[in-house]
Amino acid sequence: MPIVTTTEMFKKAYAGGYAVGAFNVNNMEIVQGITEAAGELKAPVILQVSKGARAYANHRYLVHLVQAAAENFPEIPIALHLDHGDTFELCKDCIDGGFTSVMIDASSKPYEENIALTRKVVEYAHDHGVVVEAELGTLAGVEDEVSVEADKAMYTHPEEVVDFATRTGCDSLAIAIGTSHGAYKFKPGTKPQLRFDVLEECSKQLPGFPIVLHGASSVPQEFVAEINKYGGSMPGAIGIPEDQLRQAARSAVCKINIDSDIRLAMTASIRKYFAEHPDHFDPRQYLKPARQAVKDMVAHKIVDVLGCDGKA
Ligand code: G3H
Ligand code: 13P
Ligand code: ZN
Repeated sequence: MPIVTTTEMFKKAYAGGYAVGAFNVNNMEIVQGITEAAGELKAPVILQVSKGARAYANHRYLVHLVQAAAENFPEIPIALHLDHGDTFELCKDCIDGGFTSVMIDASSKPYEENIALTRKVVEYAHDHGVVVEAELGTLAGVEDEVSVEADKAMYTHPEEVVDFATRTGCDSLAIAIGTSHGAYKFKPGTKPQLRFDVLEECSKQLPGFPIVLHGASSVPQEFVAEINKYGGSMPGAIGIPEDQLRQAARSAVCKINIDSDIRLAMTASIRKYFAEHPDHFDPRQYLKPARQAVKDMVAHKIVDVLGCDGKA
């Protein structure tokens, strides 16, 4: 199956009460780990590329890696998505260069500017058969290169979502309900709690419309412990409890973004490997278990958090 848009995936996810995983990819091992898990579990999957990933790996390599994965696993739908596009030009480059979905994240701009830029991307994307994710509200932490202080984090205002979706024509909407990017989402000792009331109000306003959750890594404590055990230092790394993500996946949330958990899985595996094999220096030796760690983590998300196994 060629890479596809997210339209059908989201329709089925909305109706079926599950979410599709959107995993960030930066290299071959990550693409392989994610798609091997999705392929074996017959799960739809979104592979997403940030501006930083394009700068690191080069657009063309990433597109071809994702196309190779789609050839390897023809029985599952795979979408290629731009994560946190911040300009029309970046979105256009990805639309022209083989992506099936783009995000224009103008959420840090004033409301009317967000609408105008999103609308411009939507017009170009739809003319080229590509779908668009937009964002309303601000997540705490770091949104690619946009830094937002935690205390200025802004939940999405439900009273704006109909106007925003109608005037932009976007295909899905990322909202802010208390998630944030990175591995340090909550202060140690505080109780992580997503604002399900905001989610419910937004979805009531937009019945049938796919909602997206960013910053949804759960920062598994076994990875953090392993990293700290083998020479790392990540005190107080905390993510979103998985039961809350499962609850979100059952609602109008059709896409759940996970990047930090991939980084943690790989880093824990590589640190452990080198601690146990200080004389090894062949990248295949330490990247093989790292790729397997990504696969195992993604398989767990697909089955226990997203609920999208068998939905391809
Ligand atoms: O939301 C941001 C993603 O985790 C991508 O991160 O800009 O470091 O590639 P990145
Ligand atoms: P995490 O940092 O929680 O993995 O969020 C990833 C994300 O939202 C990518 O857009
Ligand atoms: Zn994000």
